[in-house]
Amino acid sequence: MEKINIAVDGFSSCGKSTIAKGLAKKLGYTYIDSGAMYRAVALFAYRNGWMTDTDINETELQKHISEIEISFKTNPEGQQETYLNGENVEKEIRSLQIGNGASRVSTIGFVRRELVRQQQEMGKKKGVVMDGRDIGTVVFPDAELKIFLTASPEVRAQRRFDEMKAKGENPIFDEVLANVKERDLRDTTRDESPLRKADDAIELDNSHITIEEQLQWALDLVHNL
Ligand code: DC
Repeated sequence: MEKINIAVDGFSSCGKSTIAKGLAKKLGYTYIDSGAMYRAVALFAYRNGWMTDTDINETELQKHISEIEISFKTNPEGQQETYLNGENVEKEIRSLQIGNGASRVSTIGFVRRELVRQQQEMGKKKGVVMDGRDIGTVVFPDAELKIFLTASPEVRAQRRFDEMKAKGENPIFDEVLANVKERDLRDTTRDESPLRKADDAIELDNSHITIEEQLQWALDLVHNL
């Protein structure tokens, strides 16, 4: 079978990366976490003092946006890690602060244009599974397979809560749930490429199915193309 591109979109904490990584592994494809790229831009802006928890200096960020080079490398354990201008920033970009920052920079048109350009470049040779919010609608509108994942906010908050606990953090469930809802609202209502299901995407609500069932469902879709 010729290589294809696969777009996986959906709300935050929906398990997009789990299904996308699983598909990439089974098919021998490259997995690309587009959210990590928005996170890397937020980190870049914070570090340079162009972003705080309340403000963004868009003029400075725009001046320097072309200096941001984002790449991915696989570590010895087989996990993919994000690099910002050659530096491994995987741990730093996963904080709640940078996650919220990513959601905020992702509303800015020039940020989206630059990252979409880099993402389209990565998909030119096909054989890519990319997850995000606008992959099926904007980045790869011609992707051969588009998956749109959903799960209830409560289920997603519980998943994130469990992840934070596992990392030794002490989260409060109601705060995690409020954060999930706040991000949903921002992701779906922004002017620039809001999160929406592409007309030709296939939707899966994974609130009550296992990771294995979900991966099998997606593999069946690939094999039935
Ligand atoms: O998937 P994530 O939580 O790592 O994404 C971080 C933020 O980036 C999220 O709030 C939405 C935004 N994002 C986006 O706007 N478009 C994408 N393709 C991927 C992520």
